[in-house]
Amino acid sequence: MTATDHLLLRALRCRPTERTPAWIMRQAGRYLPEYRALRRRAGDFLNLCKTPELAVEATLQPLRRFPLDAAIIFSDILTIPDAMGLGLRIEEGEGPRFAKPLRRDADIRALRAPDPERDLRYVLDAVQLARRELNGGAPLIGFAGSPWTLAVYMVEGAGGGEFARSLQFAREQPQSMRRLLRLLAASVREYLNAQIAHGAEVVMVFDTWGGLLGGDYEEFSLDHIAAVIAKLDRTVPVIVFAKGVAAHLESIAACGCDAIGVDATVDLAEARRRVGRGIALQGNLAPEILLRANAVELESAVQAVLASHGDRPGHIFNLGHGILPATDPEMVQKMLDAVRRTMPTAA
Ligand code: CP3
Repeated sequence: MTATDHLLLRALRCRPTERTPAWIMRQAGRYLPEYRALRRRAGDFLNLCKTPELAVEATLQPLRRFPLDAAIIFSDILTIPDAMGLGLRIEEGEGPRFAKPLRRDADIRALRAPDPERDLRYVLDAVQLARRELNGGAPLIGFAGSPWTLAVYMVEGAGGGEFARSLQFAREQPQSMRRLLRLLAASVREYLNAQIAHGAEVVMVFDTWGGLLGGDYEEFSLDHIAAVIAKLDRTVPVIVFAKGVAAHLESIAACGCDAIGVDATVDLAEARRRVGRGIALQGNLAPEILLRANAVELESAVQAVLASHGDRPGHIFNLGHGILPATDPEMVQKMLDAVRRTMPTAA
């Protein structure tokens, strides 16, 4: 099978597929016992990311278990700020933390864009090795955080709060925030282009925190995503994961991406009407459903997602956000079985 024949790649180009392709955000992770064992072997999460053989093993684990239509390279969005020297630590149960968060304009002026070939070599090596191991079986997705989402973590210094500090920074020091966003856009663009050069067949930009911005979303988040995409190697499709920004679907569809990943608050039928035909939609089963549904409820929830998009081309089944660590892997199998049982997408 040549790479362009994969269901995922066809669906991303809004071409007909015999069934709806499916993969899961955070498909490698703590809900899998084999992942927990691998992380123990690595010592900690960052070491796992930074050891290409182990990162590739984590990438492949979910594909050994489940019939998934994509692999996503095992890494994290925070590799860029880590490579910029902010001192990343990711402790179990605590979320990410930076030793040197950005507090003032001088902190931002001192930053340099990482050279991916040198500073993020471990990611590129993992991409190359994963591609070789996959051997054409499933397309490999590379990824990065959006400039705004990275800026939020870099200014806050930790996740989990209400992000008041980054919003205040954007409001009170907009020039300085823009300087940071421009630097991050250049960094993300070079990083994604390097992943593409090393074998990523799709790239995805995670804009997890765009929803914090309300009416300022375009200015502080979307415009910088568009700047990333404008200078990407466009031989591969680009997915933008847009969380909490359903009000902006039309402008997201115009940012240059090929597909929009939507959260579970979005009705796919309405989203399709709003974005038109040429752009693929990815999503959007609520991850919580996998925690509490019985088999019958799960089946009908999956059917509802598929039916809401309907049988036109351009849908990739996924969750509306990352899979939760408490999820029973059995439920994932049931969910993917339910996706495969549905009627083929019409030509
Ligand atoms: O999807 C995949 O399987 C690929 C791997 C992947 C991870 N993080 C691994 C990870 C991807 C695509 C990400 C993206 C990511 N990382 C995002 C955007 C997507 C989203 O979920 O909104 C964000 C915001 C981050 C930042 C981040 N990394 C947080 C907030 C955390 C801690 C919270 C948590 O889930 O524990 C991480 C750590 C992290 N990244 C883990 C994994 C598997 C857990 C680390 C562990 O094993 O302890």
